[in-house]
Amino acid sequence: MDEILIAPSMLAGDFSCLGQEAQRMEQAGADWLHLDVMDGHFVPNITFGAPVIKALRPHTKLFFDVHLMIAQPLRYLQEFINAGADMLTLHIETLETQQVLQAIGMIRQAGKQAALSIKPATAIETVFPYLEQLDMVLVMTVEPGFGGQSFMADMLPKVCALRKELASRNLSLHIQVDGGVGENTIAKAYAAGANCFVAGSAVFNSDNAKEAIATLRALTVKHHSYSIGD
Ligand code: DX5
Ligand code: ZN
Repeated sequence: MDEILIAPSMLAGDFSCLGQEAQRMEQAGADWLHLDVMDGHFVPNITFGAPVIKALRPHTKLFFDVHLMIAQPLRYLQEFINAGADMLTLHIETLETQQVLQAIGMIRQAGKQAALSIKPATAIETVFPYLEQLDMVLVMTVEPGFGGQSFMADMLPKVCALRKELASRNLSLHIQVDGGVGENTIAKAYAAGANCFVAGSAVFNSDNAKEAIATLRALTVKHHSYSIGD
């Protein structure tokens, strides 16, 4: 199994001091910082865009995992690359086939990592044609738009199917889950084959972010050793 990556989502952070929040997550042992970009079209909520990510960039060394929930990602992609994104995740629902290839090409050309995401209603097979060119697939475990929703365990068969597909093709991309991931759900997602975990409320709403991250990490390790014994 790939390395475990815990990616706190700034959506649950204090927007009045994003720089401090990013540093707090870095000190708490986060692997990545997940940045949710929402445009009020693709999802019914608006957050922040490339200028905010650019302003945040000098405040932390954390890997910027940018989740683009926007209707026309190609129009803004270069701007997000220039802003300092390390991973760019686009929703496959927003792109035609040619546009998917164009987007991946742009991201790769810039030396950044590329990912595709699927909403709960989208089949996992839609990303299969692109796996060779991707660094990660994000399987949404809530309807994108808001933090604090309940984890949809019925999305886990998609994670299993993707893990199987990757194994059969000898590929090792990250499988990320996002939405409702916390102490009660992370082990299930890990068991299904995910290795990268976005956690908004579970980390930011806890009294101690460091402990929250360590607990999430431990829950995957624990499950792993159990499954070895099976
Ligand atoms: C939802 C976002 C998530 C969100 C997760 O559209 O993509 O990243 O912040 O929040 P929690 O972990 O609270 O469900
Ligand atoms: Zn997200």
